[in-house]
Amino acid sequence: MTIPKIEIRNVSKTFHAETRVVKALEDVSLTIMPGEFITLIGPSGSGKSTLFNLLVGLLDPDTGEICIDSEVCGDSAQRVGRVGYMPQRDLLMPWRSVLDNAIVPLELRGVPRGQARERAREMLPLFGLEEFAGAYPSELSGGMRQRAALLRTMLTERDILLLDEPFGALDALTRREMEDWLLGIWREFRQTVLFITHDVEEALYLADRVVVLSARPGRVKRILKVDFPRPRRHSILADPAFARQVAELLEALGVPVD
Ligand SMILES: Nc1ncnc2c1ncn2[C@@H]1O[C@H](COP(=O)(O)OP(=O)(O)OP(=O)(O)O)[C@@H](O)[C@H]1O
Ligand SMILES: [Mg+2]
Repeated sequence: MTIPKIEIRNVSKTFHAETRVVKALEDVSLTIMPGEFITLIGPSGSGKSTLFNLLVGLLDPDTGEICIDSEVCGDSAQRVGRVGYMPQRDLLMPWRSVLDNAIVPLELRGVPRGQARERAREMLPLFGLEEFAGAYPSELSGGMRQRAALLRTMLTERDILLLDEPFGALDALTRREMEDWLLGIWREFRQTVLFITHDVEEALYLADRVVVLSARPGRVKRILKVDFPRPRRHSILADPAFARQVAELLEALGVPVD
């Protein structure tokens, strides 16, 4: 029997700000298998980023439990460093070149800078950034910034990747290119991926399973298995079976469908 990569059991999280109490997540349970590509959709404020912050170990749940590799259960400190995380904003450091932004996770692990640069340099072609190693974030297009941020996330060398709306700010064409590119990376490295998006078609196109969260407090409202064969092509967007699943997801999100 395959051991789950991530188990989220009955997790709830409430934030107590100065005057407000916000219940972000309520009784969320989810089991994710190794190598699965999971996409997560839900209205704004439904706790998607909060779920990532819990998985990364930045937060502890109020109730419930999170296990990684069935061994790390319990408090957040044990989860720190187990996953690669790309936050909702790319957070590239403007004073560092592409290459030096990419090596941050290696530096944090104590890899000497020269060695870290060498390792990152090898990856640049795969990320379409070989000519931009010395460029600063302000000199990059939106798609290139996202690829640089993804490269940095990959260099954490973790087998779990949490990507929070990585393509949210991109135009439709670049976004499609990036989706195919990401699926190519995933096919090669076979990480377990959790990917947050607001785009229902993107969620379906990428995923093995789409998880829909309800409006706040976020609960798992629907889990949709996606069986379209891989490698996928964007022509499946015109497939009636694809359109049916889009409609199902929109309905789960509470968006009126004609
Ligand atoms: N550190 C925090 N302190 C207080 N409240 C928080 C904190 N983090 C998140 N929240 C609140 O929890 C709720 C869920 O936020 P979260 O960022 O997880 O939503 P989201 O689903 O990622 O939304 P979006 O799609 O807009 O990114 C929101 O109401 C938010 O204000
Ligand atoms: Mg968010």
